[in-house]
Amino acid sequence: MRPLLAALVAASVLILMGGAAAAHANYVKSNPASDARLTKPPTEVRVTFSETPDARGSDVAVLDVNGNRVDAHDVTLVSDEVNTLRVSLGAIGDGGYLVSWTTVSAVDGHETKGAFAFAINAPLPAIKDIGPSAPPPTALEIAGRALSYGGVAVLTGLGFFTMFIRVPAADGEVRRERRLVMIGGAALIGGTALLALNQGANIPGRLLLLLALRGFAGVAAVSALVLPSRLLPADARREATAFFGLAAGLTATLVSHAAASGDLRYVALDYLHVIAISIWLGGVVAFSYVVMPSARAEDPMGLGRTIWRFSLTALAAIAVIITTGTLQSLDRLVLIEDLVETPYGIALLAKIVLLTLLLGLGALNLLVWGPRMRRGLAASAQFWRGVIAETGLFAGVLVAAAFLTSFAPPAQANGAAFDETKHTSGIRIELLTATVRRRSRSASRWSSTTWASKSSSRPSARRASTSPRAARRRCSAPGRSR
Ligand code: HEM
Repeated sequence: MRPLLAALVAASVLILMGGAAAAHANYVKSNPASDARLTKPPTEVRVTFSETPDARGSDVAVLDVNGNRVDAHDVTLVSDEVNTLRVSLGAIGDGGYLVSWTTVSAVDGHETKGAFAFAINAPLPAIKDIGPSAPPPTALEIAGRALSYGGVAVLTGLGFFTMFIRVPAADGEVRRERRLVMIGGAALIGGTALLALNQGANIPGRLLLLLALRGFAGVAAVSALVLPSRLLPADARREATAFFGLAAGLTATLVSHAAASGDLRYVALDYLHVIAISIWLGGVVAFSYVVMPSARAEDPMGLGRTIWRFSLTALAAIAVIITTGTLQSLDRLVLIEDLVETPYGIALLAKIVLLTLLLGLGALNLLVWGPRMRRGLAASAQFWRGVIAETGLFAGVLVAAAFLTSFAPPAQANGAAFDETKHTSGIRIELLTATVRRRSRSASRWSSTTWASKSSSRPSARRASTSPRAARRRCSAPGRSR
């Protein structure tokens, strides 16, 4: 186990060092600048993003007013300017031009798009509405993430449960334990396949590597079952199950917003969150699926002791989940209103509500049904109902987590001077933000937010400084993004 763990740590450090970037590569600046009025034609267009985009899946298209592409289709990541894509232009004449860009995040493959205009000795062209700047996650992505998280939790939690809470001894328990390893492995493989399918041919190399490792962990966990026990004794197999679960969990952390921030403390928090979730969730599944079916034939006192031991472990895991979840939330949210006003916040709120319900059920198990069963009193019907409800709530919370990790966090640090533009009913609305200073959040994050609104024919802009909340409110006024 120890060499395996050392390999896990070494691989994660290497992968992390190889790719700290943001999960959404947003526009920061360009040359020509947005709305530039030039007197000479440029020979290239450069767009700088908040983080490194994956050049293979990204594009910068320069279009004339008739919609014809006038660039050389040679988009590359430039080496002399960080996070910048460039595209060459042929000989272009006077007129208005539209630069339409799409980026694919090098971390998790998330797409972002936008457009801006420039003009040479001519009026600026109108910019068509091209839909949301970050398309919502697809059903395939949500299913892939939720399945992957489920697989991680089942393998890690089952390994932990069978090593430290209760070692399956009866034949029936061992059989069910092996079946659960297959289910966990299949969830990992299935989830990984869905995510790869969702990404298609444009999958960034780093993401492909991590997904391949995740799928491999699922295959390895299932394959370990077929090795004879003289080659892999039961206790070593249980360690291997936990190890493959932990390794798969690490691949999730390495494509998370925490990894995107490049801050090792948040990566550690995210991984702790995943481990604690797995110990709790996977433990509940292991208990209900492996232990409970043979509970009737068992000494109620022994069963009660297992419940007691697992409940205490679950309490510790829950404390870690809440602490690590809260610390991460504080890093990702700007205002408390984000919890109800942004997709990211709503997904987070859903998790918190589901967790509260889960805690209620857990308390019932710990304080009512566990003691009753320890005293040998019949309580298994109610206990079962509780376990089924708990499993349903866990599934819900994993889906909420899948949404959470797919949406851009409100506080995503992008260093952008210009964050969002909307074109609605002939009105161009521009929200400008200052560079996020992560250490002095409350004082400065929005202090220089400026709101500018102007008509599409661009008479002089009406600009007004506004409070963060007002800016946020106005930004979410009806209308489609860019
Ligand atoms: C049963 C309870 C919970 C489950 C099953 C759960 C599950 C998850 C999962 C699977 C992830 C994704 C980890 C990754 O991809 O690396 C995650 C991330 C996260 N969770 Fe939880 N979670 C739970 C409770 C909470 C609570 C109570 C909070 C807040 C107080 C919270 C806040 C977060 C945050 C902020 C993230 C990071 C999302 C991001 O990448 O931006 N979670 N959670």
